[in-house]
Amino acid sequence: MRVLVIGSGAREHAFCLALKADPSVTEIHVAPGNAGTAHVARNHAVDVADPAGVADLAAQLAADLVVVGPEVPLVLGAADAIRAKGIACFGPSAQAAQIEGSKSFAKEVMAEAGVRTARSEVVDSTARLDAALDRFGPIWVVKDDRLAAGKGVVVTEDRAEAREHAVELLERGHPVLLESYLDGPEVSLFCLVNGDQVVPLLPAQDFKRAYDGDAGPNTGGMGAYTPLPWLPQALVDQIVAEVVRPVAVELQQRGCPYSGLLYAGLAIGREGPAVVEFNCRFGDPETQPVLALLRTPLGQLLRSVADGTLLETTELEWEPGYAVGVVLAAEHYPAKPRLGDTITGAVGTGLVLAGVDEKDGALVSAGGRVLTAVGIGPDIDAARAQAYARIEQVHLPGGHYRTDIALAAARGEVVIP
Ligand code: GLY
Repeated sequence: MRVLVIGSGAREHAFCLALKADPSVTEIHVAPGNAGTAHVARNHAVDVADPAGVADLAAQLAADLVVVGPEVPLVLGAADAIRAKGIACFGPSAQAAQIEGSKSFAKEVMAEAGVRTARSEVVDSTARLDAALDRFGPIWVVKDDRLAAGKGVVVTEDRAEAREHAVELLERGHPVLLESYLDGPEVSLFCLVNGDQVVPLLPAQDFKRAYDGDAGPNTGGMGAYTPLPWLPQALVDQIVAEVVRPVAVELQQRGCPYSGLLYAGLAIGREGPAVVEFNCRFGDPETQPVLALLRTPLGQLLRSVADGTLLETTELEWEPGYAVGVVLAAEHYPAKPRLGDTITGAVGTGLVLAGVDEKDGALVSAGGRVLTAVGIGPDIDAARAQAYARIEQVHLPGGHYRTDIALAAARGEVVIP
């Protein structure tokens, strides 16, 4: 099977590494890819925001399967354009991808499906903002209603900071979503979804703040681990039964059945799981540790979703133990990452590249999140030790990473309230 992967992040490099281990995959192509994918696949130029261009490339390569990594092409209709050419595609239609592309659509679907989520209000003018802010707090959650690559969210106890972020979004013409704060530890549950058939992957936890101790600004994600020793299997089953399946059924009833990866971001609070957000694709950095433990051949699995043959009786196979991923970020990430610095030591097992280009035989930073170092082991301590040993061998001037990824879980300090 000839596979084309769309995207250029660590998630796509992780896809390539897993696809390479699938005996049914004969060729791997990536567009646009990065310096890491170039070592396992053939990179091609493409504008991921041009669905017709993506579909044309898939046809030129005679791809048997296209795996669309990021949300932008999905929301713009890349999967529709690929399927219109008769090519199997892993990824939802533009209509179904609205579950991530429009927070208000997601809220509407959740309300219909009876899924617990934060109370919310969409504000589209500064005139309505102050009264709306008064109805929320003391912790304000202010989100961009449109796609914002994980960086459109501000969670703060400071009303002035919440207001400032909302005003900035409104001035750019973006509607603002105000939400009540959900407490409890967060879970990312990735589910393969084919209509009303739902197959969950291992649950993971992501670290969104830039610095240790959950300090600093929100980022695209600074690290992740899987599985979660503090989350009983019964709760995973409950999330599938009470959150993911009802949403999949609701999308089917609306005439936009879901096909692809539905990512439920949840907070596990006193009253049980509540949805923080849905995404229409694999999450980054959780994908890197999750795929590090997946034994089921990835190409065949994604193909079964694309072909509509995935059944929820499908049993996935996993390596025993844990995986931890730690993200190396460029200096000044997330505000204004400095790019173009030379990176050394970034090639080897467990190093999954993201914002990295190759120039004159050297690796240089080309994005805010540069790579994820993944470690695995029989327990979280062992997986952490391997991930940190791997990241320490990489040198990037000004590069920074969190030193506390999965630490609280390793110490048994993550508790469900
Ligand atoms: N893990 C956050 C995201 O992929 O959006």
